[in-house]
Amino acid sequence: MDVQELLKFADGLVFTKIGKHLDDLQQAVVRGTWQGKRYSEISKEVHCTERHVRNVASKLWQTLSEILDEDVMKSNLRSTMERYEFSKISNSGYFNLVHKGNINVCTETPHPPTTPQNSPPTQTSTEDDTQEKPRLDLRDAPELRTFYNYPNSPLTTLENSIARQNCRLLTITGMAGTGKSAIARNLIPQIQSQFDRIIWLSLRTSPPLETTLKNLIQFLSNQPEINIPANTDTQLSILIETLRENRCLIVLDDVQQILSSGQLAGNYKPGYENYGTLFKLIGEIPHNSCLILNSWEPPSDILTFTDDNSAVRLLQLTGLGEAATEILRDKGLLDEEHWPELINLYQGNPLWLKLVAQTINNLFNRRVSKYLSYQSVFLGDELTPILQQHYQRLSEIEKQAISQLSNEIEPVSFTQWMAKCQGSQGELCKAIQSLARRGMIEKLSYESETVFTIPPVLKQYVKMVAE
Ligand SMILES: Nc1ncnc2c1ncn2[C@@H]1O[C@H](COP(=O)(O)OP(=O)(O)O)[C@@H](O)[C@H]1O
Ligand SMILES: [Mg+2]
Repeated sequence: MDVQELLKFADGLVFTKIGKHLDDLQQAVVRGTWQGKRYSEISKEVHCTERHVRNVASKLWQTLSEILDEDVMKSNLRSTMERYEFSKISNSGYFNLVHKGNINVCTETPHPPTTPQNSPPTQTSTEDDTQEKPRLDLRDAPELRTFYNYPNSPLTTLENSIARQNCRLLTITGMAGTGKSAIARNLIPQIQSQFDRIIWLSLRTSPPLETTLKNLIQFLSNQPEINIPANTDTQLSILIETLRENRCLIVLDDVQQILSSGQLAGNYKPGYENYGTLFKLIGEIPHNSCLILNSWEPPSDILTFTDDNSAVRLLQLTGLGEAATEILRDKGLLDEEHWPELINLYQGNPLWLKLVAQTINNLFNRRVSKYLSYQSVFLGDELTPILQQHYQRLSEIEKQAISQLSNEIEPVSFTQWMAKCQGSQGELCKAIQSLARRGMIEKLSYESETVFTIPPVLKQYVKMVAE
């Protein structure tokens, strides 16, 4: 759905309900919201006060909420609308809504829509190739939600890598909440016209490679399960052949679930080493398809690809930076001048910021300044278990090194850090490299030297564990 379609859609809904079309200001609000603009920006464009724009928007959201029987607001307009397919029926100006989720809504249409009650949450089509391209299986993917894009954002980088550089293997890494799934999900509408088939699979339940290959072959080559051989090598050849014949996009999410705990980053869990063969084949063998891996850390095989292989890319996410202000705005926080400090503390991690914004709303009456003056980093019941999962994956030597680093006030150089840790230099060196791959330490350049720090949220957690 593009902005014109959204406008037509919203206009049709409102017309059905109140018999009036959207006026210019309402259209500007819908358009601006779609583009991720603030009310203040929209108000400048339409030359009226922000307050007036807010009032108009608020009434419009209310009308749309009543029609759709679910809460519509600035932050979810896009995702809510995208859950509906629409088709204009004759020239009556009415719309026939088909909800892709589990609620079934219809507007006043001459013929009520027939919508399966239990239709899958996202678009899927498994029919034959006469279907419109691409064939999609996004049942395992998260919903499209409000997504703030910005110049040079990872989304743009990924789009370019796939569209212009024909990347075959893309790995997106970052701690929980950095937005890996959101980026991959928002990438799909941008590039889907270039692909014949697109499938999203999550490895959250740690499926063995055979299961994953079967699922991929079944969908991508349209094979009934019964025809798929049991032998993994044969399955791999069938898959590669399919990736050559059709341009396919595969997203494997939550790849960290097949990687091991208690060891350096990137080692496979016992029994999952054969996933490495899949990743290597897709990266090395020429074909026109693309595999995106989302993971807390890069699987070891990814690191063996050398820089000169432009078909293979690794993208480490570090947070939204300035775009994170939009998240705080959506949450209705106050004291905008303190937002950069808050974003810095939480590394621009959208999930962590959403969680702390809830706390600030609940306990500090939306005042960021009050929150910051009370406590610099608050972990809370939601963030602690997330950090715990990351910490528990570390090897003993990584735990030792990170706890040493969390005692430092200033950034330290490699030599200073090593001097404070016990163990062989070689082992420590590997541990530091591994922590960096996990995105759990930050590297900064300082007077031609590399220095290391630990992000404030993790520092707080590591100190808490040490107590
Ligand atoms: N660029 C963005 N703009 C707005 N919200 C975002 C953005 N990136 C991520 N989010 C939100 O942050 C949360 C965490 O993102 P998610 O993709 O689930 O992280 P990850 O997959 O890395 O754990 C989700 O609620 C997601 O909608
Ligand atoms: Mg995710």
